[in-house]
Amino acid sequence: MVKENTVSVNKSEIVVWDEKYATGIELIDGQHHQLVELTNQLYIACLAKEEVLQVVFRDAMSRLVKYVRFHFDAESKLLHAINYPDYRNHKKMHDDLVKNILDTAQEYNEGKKFVPNNLVRTLKDWIFGHIAVYDKLYSAYTMEQIRKGDLSLKKLKEIELTSAGSAVMA
Ligand SMILES: [Fe+2]
Repeated sequence: MVKENTVSVNKSEIVVWDEKYATGIELIDGQHHQLVELTNQLYIACLAKEEVLQVVFRDAMSRLVKYVRFHFDAESKLLHAINYPDYRNHKKMHDDLVKNILDTAQEYNEGKKFVPNNLVRTLKDWIFGHIAVYDKLYSAYTMEQIRKGDLSLKKLKEIELTSAGSAVMA
């Protein structure tokens, strides 16, 4: 007999990397890949048995939140360095996104009844909705700067290294 709470892996819940997420900026794309990985780990954590779910889920959530903050810090530093005109708005979106994630995680910790799967789906929508739409805008701006000769690939590489090196894992 199949136990009622047996969880089957529903592949549609797992984030699959898609070229629509690609910004063409190596540092960012590498970090976005890592976000896909951590979101999938969080999803897999949801499949843990009831007794360990809280611990496993909390652990995966904490790793994701830390990485999201680190990534947003690196990305914001990069946008600042390339003089992205919409820097302030973009940074604000990052701050709001982190706040949303932290609030939701805290509600979960405080025992508000969540279906972890739904929580992961919400996180996925927040994070990847941002990447697929707003990160594409600065990607287009960056490529345009390179095309016009206002930014060299060498300079972009230097900025990527500095942004990654100085980002903080809060
Ligand atoms: Fe962003």
